[in-house]
Amino acid sequence: MRVVLAGLAFSVVAASASAAAVSDSADVFNRLGNLSPYHKGPVPVGVRERLPADCTVEQVMLMGRHGSRFPLASELVFITNLTTKLASKASALQRARLPSELAFLKEGYTSTLGHDDLTAMGRRQLFDHGVDFRLKYPHLIADSVLAGDQDRVIESAQWFAQGYFGRTWTNISSAAFSTIAEDNVTISWITPMDTCPKWQYAFGGNAVTTWGTVYLPAITRRLNKLIPGVGFTDNDTHGALYACAYDYAALGVSPWCNVFTKQELANFEYELDLLMNGAFGYNLPGNMGATLGALFVNKLVERFSNATGDAKPVYLEFGHDTTIDMALAALGLAKDTPPLSAKGPARPSRKFRTSQQVPFGAQMIWEKFTCSSSFKGPQIRLVLNDAPFPLRSCARTSADSRFGSCAFESFVKANSASTSLKWGDAAWNATCGAAAF
Ligand SMILES: *[C@@H]1O[C@H](CO)[C@@H](O)[C@H](O)[C@H]1NC(C)=O
Ligand SMILES: *[C@@H]1O[C@H](CO)[C@@H](O)[C@H](O)[C@H]1NC(C)=O
Ligand SMILES: *[C@@H]1O[C@H](CO)[C@@H](O)[C@H](O)[C@H]1NC(C)=O
Ligand SMILES: *[C@@H]1O[C@H](CO)[C@@H](O)[C@H](O)[C@H]1NC(C)=O
Ligand SMILES: *[C@@H]1O[C@H](CO)[C@@H](O)[C@H](O)[C@H]1NC(C)=O
Ligand SMILES: *[C@@H]1O[C@H](CO)[C@@H](O)[C@H](O)[C@H]1NC(C)=O
Repeated sequence: MRVVLAGLAFSVVAASASAAAVSDSADVFNRLGNLSPYHKGPVPVGVRERLPADCTVEQVMLMGRHGSRFPLASELVFITNLTTKLASKASALQRARLPSELAFLKEGYTSTLGHDDLTAMGRRQLFDHGVDFRLKYPHLIADSVLAGDQDRVIESAQWFAQGYFGRTWTNISSAAFSTIAEDNVTISWITPMDTCPKWQYAFGGNAVTTWGTVYLPAITRRLNKLIPGVGFTDNDTHGALYACAYDYAALGVSPWCNVFTKQELANFEYELDLLMNGAFGYNLPGNMGATLGALFVNKLVERFSNATGDAKPVYLEFGHDTTIDMALAALGLAKDTPPLSAKGPARPSRKFRTSQQVPFGAQMIWEKFTCSSSFKGPQIRLVLNDAPFPLRSCARTSADSRFGSCAFESFVKANSASTSLKWGDAAWNATCGAAAF
């Protein structure tokens, strides 16, 4: 069965597409793992989205992922190799009898995607988030913005700030916008893996390669039957899957998404989960995921307990999907038992889901709140992509379960493994090796 995206979005008839077709397409685009456009996360059954009326959020901390971007240079080559091959077979493709979903190949498929930087969609996501955040917490006004020092992260933070502060936001003192280096000599809760010498991206990359040998060959065979004379390789198939995700991230449409079955796209989604889980989550060796994420959890606890006496009511900080995934690993959230396997199968009920947790523009928002009667003492809640994400390890009461929240004190206790760890202490060094600075 092919995914039905009947006559929409890929041509100017988009406006006349039926509501049903549009929801089908969201079904596809919102399941492209960490390459999905920003969308609201699922609200767990039985959990209320709104806090009781007698509660007030007193402190809030946002860790935002940059918005939709072009492919990484290392990913773009899969797409350009595919387009080069298709161009070299142009005359054969013009003569070929192709099924309707592949008819676009007769006119040639070209790609002008850039790499690494934010796209127009990404700009809009972050601008909207800035506006929405201002409206959601009108009583808590930020005085600064912090971004990881990478172009797409900085630009994301800037668009957010435009939406949040307005166009005169640069008038706020120059200290209000700052960056933190993303390198191997800067200890950062945004990019902790960079100061962990034993960490390797390959921990995720190897899982992707293994899973690719499981799921790509059948798609390649299917495409080669449908498209005679081109000779797709598994890398070309991979390129076509990337083209679906990244055309969409840059242009809002892609002819390729319609080429794959739901199951094929689900296997691509699993690839992206394996990558992030392997390089930034539970499948890192030993305790590495939790160790790296502890730097973020400790920052959160430090600020919400005002440990240094200078805690601000609002933190607006921008980083990566990786930042959020490592934090989840330290918190024990979205953890699968048994762990995800690179040999598959892609369990549909798995908890670690980059589509839901770290789409482009993902927002990990921590709220500290107090209530006059519903809860006693300061409470904490995680709102991930506009949906409460229950903190089950510290929930004690039925009210906790109803709102996905915890008493702040219980949260701190439940995270003692993180709070007892510091960068460069014996536990960190045992996991990461000693850094040479
Ligand atoms: C792209 O093509 C070049 C030249 O043929 C090749 O060396 C490289 O391995 C290809 N990369 C991918 C990802 O297919
Ligand atoms: C921001 O700066 C511009 C130009 O210096 C000035 O015209 C404007 O009044 C300032 N806005 C605020 C809110 O201070
Ligand atoms: C497929 O891509 C990988 C990653 O770039 C590359 O190492 C490999 O050589 C490519 N395989 C082929 C057959 O092009
Ligand atoms: C942290 O403590 C200081 C000193 O008491 C106080 O001025 C500040 O408002 C507190 N911050 C928050 C977010 O409560
Ligand atoms: C951990 O390694 C760092 C060097 O990266 C060193 O300065 C530090 O003393 C080590 N910590 C312990 C507890 O040995
Ligand atoms: C940091 O990375 C640079 C290369 O980018 C390398 O030359 C240097 O040795 C690294 N330093 C540490 C402390 O790992």
